[in-house]
Amino acid sequence: MAKIDADKLQEGLNTKNFGKKIVFLREVASTNNFAKKLANYGADEGTVVLAENQSAGKGRLGRVWLSPRGGLYFSIILKPKIKISDAVKLVFVASLAAAESIRNLYGLKAETKWPNDVLVDGKKVCGILAEMSSMDEHLKFVVLGVGVNVNLNIKKFPKELQESATSLQDMLGRKVEIEKLFKKLLERLERLYTLFLKNGFTQILEKWKKFASFLGCQVEVLSDSQKWSGTALDVEEDGSLSLKLENGTVKRFLSGDITLRLR
Ligand code: BTN
Repeated sequence: MAKIDADKLQEGLNTKNFGKKIVFLREVASTNNFAKKLANYGADEGTVVLAENQSAGKGRLGRVWLSPRGGLYFSIILKPKIKISDAVKLVFVASLAAAESIRNLYGLKAETKWPNDVLVDGKKVCGILAEMSSMDEHLKFVVLGVGVNVNLNIKKFPKELQESATSLQDMLGRKVEIEKLFKKLLERLERLYTLFLKNGFTQILEKWKKFASFLGCQVEVLSDSQKWSGTALDVEEDGSLSLKLENGTVKRFLSGDITLRLR
């Protein structure tokens, strides 16, 4: 398996701030944890931590993110001047950037799934983990972690993941250049982040929803260890999911996970 070429990560990178500083590691426990440490030491906005593999990659809700060599694993430090309650919107910015990059580079029909997933062919190819630090009701920084299954054979993953996960390699039938995907994703991320800070969330959410094929479908939402069934109606301006329950009432979820029941 080809190693990541650290020299290529900034070659031709067309960004203003994002990725001007990159900490590249062959292995780390979690790029998010490493980036949080750097942010606490005062690292600049746009600083990236990228690892070839993670020994303890973290997913949402305390899950493990399997991170063998062949995937793209990075975290970026952001210092937006926004309300703490708006930090969740950055997850949409990042998943939109990932979906657009995958569509644009490989022609795959990447879709967004609430709250933080990117799917290809109904299976997860990318996940986002946002962690923030605040003080006195004030957002200090956000670390956005992005994991993409790139040159991985999902058949080598545990059985329970094989049904729900895929990789770009499995979808395309060939390997792709991880460094190129990283640069494209970072460029899109910076563009959409700038748009979000300048114009607000509406435009981002509209774009995100165009790729969200789960809307209008029958889904199950797992939230606070409870399961709810209904129709996914919409994603609201605050990032919450509105679900029409079987008894006709509409319930909103700020966090959770959805499973599609019918396509
Ligand atoms: C999820 O879908 O549950 C989120 C997965 C996020 C994985 C990425 S890989 C880079 C960064 N470092 C981590 O430990 N996690 C995120």
